[in-house]
Amino acid sequence: MKKNLNFLMMFGLCLLTACSTPNNGSSSSEVTVPLLKDVYANYFPIGAALTENKISLYEDLLPNFNSITQEYEAKWSITEPLEGQFDFSSSDPMVEYAKENGKGVRGHTLVWYKSLPRYVLSDNPSKEKLISRIENHVEGVINHFKDDVYVWDVVNEALRDYPSLAQVESGDFYRTGDETNDATGGDLFAICGIDYIESAFKEAYRVRQENNYNFKLFYNDYGLNYPNKREALLKMLDQFALDGTPIEGVGLQAHYYLGSFNIDEFENTIRSIVERGLDVQITELDVSIYPYSTYPITYDEIPESLSKIQASMYGQIMGIARKYSHPENDAYGKVTGVTMWGVADDITWLDNNPVSGRKNWPLLFDEFHEPKQAFWSFIDLDKYGE
Ligand code: G3I
Repeated sequence: MKKNLNFLMMFGLCLLTACSTPNNGSSSSEVTVPLLKDVYANYFPIGAALTENKISLYEDLLPNFNSITQEYEAKWSITEPLEGQFDFSSSDPMVEYAKENGKGVRGHTLVWYKSLPRYVLSDNPSKEKLISRIENHVEGVINHFKDDVYVWDVVNEALRDYPSLAQVESGDFYRTGDETNDATGGDLFAICGIDYIESAFKEAYRVRQENNYNFKLFYNDYGLNYPNKREALLKMLDQFALDGTPIEGVGLQAHYYLGSFNIDEFENTIRSIVERGLDVQITELDVSIYPYSTYPITYDEIPESLSKIQASMYGQIMGIARKYSHPENDAYGKVTGVTMWGVADDITWLDNNPVSGRKNWPLLFDEFHEPKQAFWSFIDLDKYGE
């Protein structure tokens, strides 16, 4: 009840300060649209992922966010395109924008099999050589951004896409070359085993402690709401604990799809992580209006019926995120942030993905930068609050 009162007070404050807050992309309707970051000021930062060339396109909506993720510019292929030759010319402008506009930066991502430049694996490196390349990259990037980044996705997507129960039980749940979507993931694991993952975290921790930086160390992945993949994650986290591998949290990418989302499994995943004393951030949230498949369905615009289901999903997700943001038990971790993977429906990675020629409408603002039903559910603490 107390939080709802806070919300009502905050919402009233937003109304009162409407004249001083930027137009939130809303039309000249009588309702003043609150800023997402204000609604969630007592909970956690609200972020958005974008590339630097979209900042001007979204200058009307970016005041909603007090965190940004570089959708592309901080990945290995961009920041160290040649071995030992770092290049931050693409990523620095976004970090400067964030600092000038009072926004935090989520670091995404130090080690991801999909963003490795060719030199990392092309000379069939030994395990020692490959680990050395990973450590050098981690050190070079962290020492460049320093504390301009408040959390790093140290390793991204190191688990199998969707491991079977047998693979989880046998320990065969790390991404390997037999995964359909990319062989390099397999090379990393085939050459180093879990050591490439743990070395990345240990090096990030060493550099952080040596320089008194304060950013948090996160592991980031998708599909962690599926029971088998959740169990694989928990086994990896337990192995980290045995090996003394430092980690402070898990990023749930949260790329969800209508028709294949279970809010109870979503909550089970968050609970199982925070009970281990680790934090959770929702790092790449979007809700596709199509089931996950190569459905040939294409719509001219999102059907009203699907808008309602999408809005309900956003409301439930945010209700759980809020529920786990203020743990009663101090030993537990908590939800410390929610980031959208995009800003508005005019541009989303889900356009033409996985079906070429198919538009998607997965975000909180529509193609005209107007708030959708999903936006109102996202902030509707009353309707979906605890
Ligand atoms: O900026 C260049 C441009 O100069 C060039 O003309 C153009 C054509 O080659 O490419 C542009 O770069 C593209 C970049 O996005 C920026 O738009 C890359 O080709 C393209 O591969 C890159 O795709 C990104 C992808 O990660 C790979 O890095 C997507 O935008 C981004 O949404 C996606 O995000 C991933 C997360 O990192 C991890 N979780 C899954 C998520 C979705 O796949």
